[in-house]
Amino acid sequence: MFITFEGPEGSGKTTQFTRTVAALQAAGHDVLATREPGGTPIGEQIRSVLLDRPENTTMTPEAEALLFSAARAQHVRERIRPALAAGKIVLCDRFADSTLAYQGYGHGLDLEALRRITAFATGGLTPDITIYLDCPPEIGLRRKANQAEWNRLDGMALDFHRRVYGGFLALMADSPTRWVRIDATRPADDVFAQIAAALQARGLALG
Ligand code: TYD
Repeated sequence: MFITFEGPEGSGKTTQFTRTVAALQAAGHDVLATREPGGTPIGEQIRSVLLDRPENTTMTPEAEALLFSAARAQHVRERIRPALAAGKIVLCDRFADSTLAYQGYGHGLDLEALRRITAFATGGLTPDITIYLDCPPEIGLRRKANQAEWNRLDGMALDFHRRVYGGFLALMADSPTRWVRIDATRPADDVFAQIAAALQARGLALG
């Protein structure tokens, strides 16, 4: 079972991700918890080029899309596929949908080209379930402004984040059975209860 978490900035995704991993482990599941960009030593180096360096403002959207995809190609083969083959539940904080939402809808890159690049990078691997933490960018960016972490894409204008948000909604409409929409504007406990109910409905017990 391959489960991804997606959402715009400040949706509380990473907090909920961590809590879900702990609840699945408490129920006795063998879980690999990982994230993108990153998840492997090579992927973490690429992550640093993509996100941690304010001086990389000249990175083109095309280069950005290919770097996210390069990190993903390594991640799928080095960690995700082997874990799935070993029978683990793999939970990944962001995956290919983020490339379509951010580099496609956000930056305006050609979606069909990105789908081909993504299919090449993943070798055709798609999530079984995508938990989508739905939070409008106006609320998410306000939440993030109060937090210490920062990445290069957080610095993009509100318009960019609005396009990303619209992109996630379009992607969800394309594959409604894979996506589970969670109202992430609710208090954290309520958000987690929605996630737990969705996973339980798909046969996964949580501790
Ligand atoms: P991160 O610090 O992990 O934060 P978040 O909690 O938002 O996931 O940042 C990952 C950033 O990279 C985030 O701004 C989304 C972006 N991203 C893309 O633009 N394309 C991608 O393919 C992926 C995986 C992430």
